[in-house]
Amino acid sequence: MKNYLVTGGAGFIGANFVKYLLKKHKDIQIIVLDDLTYAGNLGTIKEDLKDPRLVFVKGDIKNPKVVNGIFEKYPIDFVVNFAAESHVDRSIENPQVFLETNILGTQNLLDIAKKHWSTGKDENGYPTYKDGVKYLQVSTDEVYGSLGASGYFTETTPLDPRSPYSASKTGADLIVKAYGETYKMPINITRCSNNYGPYHFPEKLIPLIIKNILEGKKLPVYGDGSNIRDWLYVEDHCKAIDTVVLNGKTGEVYNVGGHNEKKNIDIVKLTISTIRKLLEENKEYKKALKKPGDDISWINDDLITYVKDRLGHDQRYAIDPNKITTELGWYPETKFEDGIVKTIRWYLENQDWVEEVTSGDYQKYYQEMYGNR
Ligand code: NAD
Ligand code: TYD
Repeated sequence: MKNYLVTGGAGFIGANFVKYLLKKHKDIQIIVLDDLTYAGNLGTIKEDLKDPRLVFVKGDIKNPKVVNGIFEKYPIDFVVNFAAESHVDRSIENPQVFLETNILGTQNLLDIAKKHWSTGKDENGYPTYKDGVKYLQVSTDEVYGSLGASGYFTETTPLDPRSPYSASKTGADLIVKAYGETYKMPINITRCSNNYGPYHFPEKLIPLIIKNILEGKKLPVYGDGSNIRDWLYVEDHCKAIDTVVLNGKTGEVYNVGGHNEKKNIDIVKLTISTIRKLLEENKEYKKALKKPGDDISWINDDLITYVKDRLGHDQRYAIDPNKITTELGWYPETKFEDGIVKTIRWYLENQDWVEEVTSGDYQKYYQEMYGNR
């Protein structure tokens, strides 16, 4: 029986990971620690919480009392840290909370895990640890900076973050590495490319575009839309994390990506045409449209509006996942063409979820941040 502490388990990837673990493994206990910020939503895992193997704790990863309390109550074997401030645009507006959560929160988790997992000291003074424990830091390819037209990020690419978000994630990676070296803590870091799939908060590109289309709103494309992201279906990411938790070599970093590079403008156009096709195929889906009427010919590329570019906008991300594939046998199973259809179908069928997660200060935030774009 393995006990997981999954932080950020009410957010996009964390919640998908919780669902994945519950399906994949029988003999487990999962403690989700999540502070339910604007990006976290308990509704996302409410069905899963009926499973006695899952426990939810509301709290901040920076809070030593809360994290200690969990380790005192449950014999945690694995910490998987998803909790973070995750949106680049928000980090440009308000960097401080990114440094606090992403760096200090990570250090707090490491410190408390180290305290509870230590069993003594070896002859050189390094701590020794309970068997089979591991701390996994969920990181991002954005720590490597931005690529030109060619090349890929490998695990040895120098770290060169350029946004406050990626700088904070890099800071976190470095402190995880430091605990691995200085205290010989059993750690892994995974660095993943852009995820997409169900439960993605509609401030990120794909879910925002879907939401805006359904509301008949303009689709904001930053700059000229030529920026490239390397997209990975969220379930494939969850499988990679599960693999690294169980089989990753201590101390190692693993890049996770699916060789799925797309220009933003192509993503937006594909989303438009796919939504239209699905609405034409299944009349039931029209219930998701906020703009009434049977005619959907207005769902076309004219909805696209080119807006002011993001400050310091990274041009291209592209992951080389060779290490995780050759060493651990992981590979992505979902082709983008299938994943985007699955994702859009999910949004068409789960408008209640979208309404629930955007019912707080979402509108106010959007108005303040982007105006009437
Ligand atoms: P998200 O913003 O959807 O979810 C973050 C979760 O963390 C939320 O549930 C939020 O409530 C929680 N949280 C925030 N601050 C907290 C705190 N102080 N204490 C406890 N909980 C807190 O993010 P996501 O997209 O699911 O990303 C998860 C992780 O994966 C992040 O670490 C992110 O950097 C990394 N990542 C994301 C992507 C991506 O494409 N989304 C790609 C690579 C890496
Ligand atoms: P985003 O989903 O915010 O992820 P990240 O910045 O972590 O890659 O953005 C993905 C890409 O889409 C990025 O190049 C910025 C761009 N983008 C837009 O063009 N319009 C938008 O409204 C958003 C949110 C993003």
